[in-house]
Amino acid sequence: MKTTIHAAAGITAFVTILLFFSVTLAVELGGDAAAVAQVKGYIVRGLWLLIPALMLTGASGFALARGRVGGGVAAKKRRMPFIAGNGLLILLPAALLLDRWAAAGSLDGMFYAVQALELLAGATNLVLIGLNIRDGIRLRHGRS
Ligand code: HEM
Repeated sequence: MKTTIHAAAGITAFVTILLFFSVTLAVELGGDAAAVAQVKGYIVRGLWLLIPALMLTGASGFALARGRVGGGVAAKKRRMPFIAGNGLLILLPAALLLDRWAAAGSLDGMFYAVQALELLAGATNLVLIGLNIRDGIRLRHGRS
């Protein structure tokens, strides 16, 4: 049961970031300023799903790992501060700033610099969370 909650929360976080990432790219490549502003608003609302999902994943992961040692558990633990730091220090403020700027119609150089940083941090978290899913599957099936 605890593993199911942990896995569901982790996969929700992964899919949410993937969705934010793809919709951002799509709207930047093909949308107008109004579409960009609309997507930024959706992303800020989506944070209400992403942040609790990540918190639940981390908390349940540490609970599942209690008493377990080994490479898989250690690697997952080591990645978690980077995932959380990336999320709270880059993705969260970037989403709030980009939403505010897009709503005000200021899609200037600063907007695109923060947008590029957000995409980079998002891609990094997709890789790190993806590795945690891979190692989770290995742990679950006794291969780590
Ligand atoms: C974003 C971060 C994380 C994601 C996406 C994630 C994802 C997953 C997934 C999908 C599984 C289940 C695999 C399956 O049922 O086949 C799993 C299992 C597991 N995870 Fe995580 N995990 C994360 C963080 C952590 C952390 C920080 C720890 C603590 C070290 C951890 C410890 C474990 C353990 C011990 C299992 C195996 C549970 C069992 O054998 O029943 N996870 N993880």
